[in-house]
Amino acid sequence: MSTVKNVEELTNTLAHKLKGKDFLTLADFDTEEIHFLLEEALDLKMKQKEGIPHPYLQGKTLGMIFEKSSTRTRVSFEVGMLQLGGHAIFLSSRDIQLGRGETISDTAKVMSRYVDGIMIRTFAHETVEELAEHADVPVINGLTDLHHPAQVLADLLTILEHKGKMKGLKLCYLGDGNNNMSHSLIEGAVKVGMNISIASPSGYEPDSKVFESAKLVGKNQGCEISITQDPYEAIKDADVVVTDVWASMGQEDEQKERMDVLKSFQVNSNLCKHAKDDFIFLHCLPAHREEEVTAEVIDGKHSVVFDEAENRLHAQKALLKVLMKD
Ligand code: CP
Ligand code: NVA
Repeated sequence: MSTVKNVEELTNTLAHKLKGKDFLTLADFDTEEIHFLLEEALDLKMKQKEGIPHPYLQGKTLGMIFEKSSTRTRVSFEVGMLQLGGHAIFLSSRDIQLGRGETISDTAKVMSRYVDGIMIRTFAHETVEELAEHADVPVINGLTDLHHPAQVLADLLTILEHKGKMKGLKLCYLGDGNNNMSHSLIEGAVKVGMNISIASPSGYEPDSKVFESAKLVGKNQGCEISITQDPYEAIKDADVVVTDVWASMGQEDEQKERMDVLKSFQVNSNLCKHAKDDFIFLHCLPAHREEEVTAEVIDGKHSVVFDEAENRLHAQKALLKVLMKD
């Protein structure tokens, strides 16, 4: 009885602590809070599958600003708000005054008078920070050049579902170590006690600030984080293998050069022989088959990329509920 009460008290404390908070990076959330969000996501996923109504955000509106393209992020946030009883507004930066030079701070202040939360996908991470600084409602990072935390929350949920745990697993990330996925994976993995091994060519290593802070977190969590230029060393005995596109949005001009530099980091069957027999393969999508990953791997039996894509919906519903519910 007292245990049930303790769990209830902890849930209430965490819900209270997270209400109204911004979601800019996973580094801003502690281990307990990330586990709480994942528990909420599992509960909401179950409710959705069982047809149990869960209108926690009735009457609430999410404004969604997109300065880059999106399939998953746009659809999953919009559908998520609808399933929670609320509403979402899609705002392309081309159509709003932000695209014609209205300041971030004025945009934040004005939107805060209409909506209950703002999700933004943009280029510079500082833009999201500035928006959050001036908005009176929670701001959610839907991808910047530096971070993609909403995706990694879904990735953690997928790992938890497929592996039954996260702590102590080895996650290997191959390819462009200096992009948003690599950074958010590093921050998320160490928070839940996963060992993370990154294999990238010289010049494509993760941001040193992200890496050094994650190393400190990892030390407290008892897990290791390492960078190598040898994909075989990184993937050895990995439980989870992850990659991402070699040229992210905004880097289209560098596509050819990146293909040459990154080709030996392709996730293919030969490389995957060195992972654990029951490894799972993750990719945030969109993917370029035969570039960063072969069709044989992404369409093969170890791949869980569509469960991962589905989990964007459930993980983000948890986030929306926790940040925006009265
Ligand atoms: N993974 C992801 O964020 O996909 P979209 O670019 O389609 O939103
Ligand atoms: N690193 C990729 C992720 C896409 C979801 C990009 O920024 O284009």
